[in-house]
Amino acid sequence: MDLKQYIRDIKDFPVQGILFRDITPLLGDKDAMSYAIDAIAEPYKNKNVDYVAAIEARGFIFGAAIAREIGAGFIPIRKPGKLPCRSEAMTYDLEYGSNTIEVHADAVKPGSRVLMFDDLLATGGTMKAACSLMERLGAEIVATAFLVELTDLPGRLMLQKYPIYSVISY
Ligand code: PRP
Ligand code: HPA
Repeated sequence: MDLKQYIRDIKDFPVQGILFRDITPLLGDKDAMSYAIDAIAEPYKNKNVDYVAAIEARGFIFGAAIAREIGAGFIPIRKPGKLPCRSEAMTYDLEYGSNTIEVHADAVKPGSRVLMFDDLLATGGTMKAACSLMERLGAEIVATAFLVELTDLPGRLMLQKYPIYSVISY
């Protein structure tokens, strides 16, 4: 299935000069959605993954489904102030603006094998911060996985420490 058919380009969103790859048509199509979840999960079946950690908000849409597919738990990496227990935080630069993410300090036991997921890899800042956060908790990063990768940005360079898997590239 050609998943690119279900992603539309929006010029100058959220700021001037950004060509935004909008995945909402894919989310709304039951066959494309199901195909995308299978494609992301497939390489990680039987790889002893303990948790899928995904990044709010768009990462969550697929993260829980991937966790179910591969028989892993789910860890939410959230925007600031949302998590109720003691958390670790990290601030990083975005393609547009900056952001902070948090995770519960007790989300994993040291040595837990974690698959990191986000919907899209752009500069790599978000995923690099998320991986650093999880490593601070003692997690072993199995891989970083994405639905979409923007190859004209240095995302792969930022994540060179980790295996990177993406389903769709632009
Ligand atoms: C988007 C996207 C990734 C991140 C990728 O999230 O979902 O998390 O940017 O960019 P990067 O590789 O340059 O770090 P956004 O902050 O727009 O949040 P959302 O998921 O809540 O829409
Ligand atoms: N599309 C969707 N999400 C994004 C993008 C984009 O081009 N860049 C950063 N997050």
